[in-house]
Amino acid sequence: MLHPLIKRHSLQFIRTFHSTNVKFSAQSIIKRKSLNDIRQLYNSNTKISVLTAHDYISGKIANDSDVDMILVGDSLAMVALGYEDTNEIPFDEFLYHCRAVSRGTTKSFLIADLPFGSYESSISKAIESSVQLISKGRANAIKLEGGKEIAPTIKSLTQVGIPVMAHIGLTPQRSNSLGGFKVQGNTGDSAFDIYQDALEVQKAGAFAVVLEAIPAKIGKFITENLSIPTIGIGAGPDTSGQVLVQADLLNLTNSEINPKFVKKYLNGYKLSIDAIGEYINDVKSQKFPELGIHTYKIKDDHYENFIKKVDELKNKK
Ligand code: KIV
Repeated sequence: MLHPLIKRHSLQFIRTFHSTNVKFSAQSIIKRKSLNDIRQLYNSNTKISVLTAHDYISGKIANDSDVDMILVGDSLAMVALGYEDTNEIPFDEFLYHCRAVSRGTTKSFLIADLPFGSYESSISKAIESSVQLISKGRANAIKLEGGKEIAPTIKSLTQVGIPVMAHIGLTPQRSNSLGGFKVQGNTGDSAFDIYQDALEVQKAGAFAVVLEAIPAKIGKFITENLSIPTIGIGAGPDTSGQVLVQADLLNLTNSEINPKFVKKYLNGYKLSIDAIGEYINDVKSQKFPELGIHTYKIKDDHYENFIKKVDELKNKK
């Protein structure tokens, strides 16, 4: 939505634009990245960048930064909405956020998580939820957590034309059964289990797989032995791409939980507190707003007319 004070291009503007013989060129129409583009990045050994977004603003920032894929991750439950864990967010609330992110994005391939409770009970429920995220949420693909046990769901989704990114290793929606947010695959057996998950989700038709919180050596091994992109978060430098939660990368929440795999590229929390502190001081000391800079004018004759009317009103009483 435009700010009410910013005018939409009027018909007059469009006519002038055309009369000056400026034509809309094919290049000026920016195309959204597709699965083919992601596949091309993978085939050319170009690392794939993925970032989460949780609303219109973070969607627009990720999009305008030219990130390859944007993930509306269910991390938004904790990061943007303050829930205790990702399992608390209702589907409708998640969909609402997905719609907001999609309105802010035009270029990046958009993936939406299937939140907890929206896909586990049956394949038809998974299809219904995915259809909602694609038709109403305007996502291009969905992501779901799980390995071999969820492969039949992945197969059914891909068969009806819904691209699926799988998510294995540490799967936060299952933190209760995993005993918390812990590194996975750090024993021979558990690493082999994750490798088998990777093979099964690939076989089921996933176009990519997120590998979360596993040893770097296992991330490398899985990546070298799959023919779909692996997107790592705490899976080392050798995966086909990386994903981070945007609020972590920008340190917007100053959270006390600091996973080892997060790199903070900005102290957004401190910068925001400092900037808002400056604003508060300016308000208190009347430095803001500045007359003539942040203010609107009224012509002298209009102002005189206004005062005249006020005086007339006073005299009537
Ligand atoms: O919910 C999320 O943001 C995620 C990524 C961290 C992979 O699943």
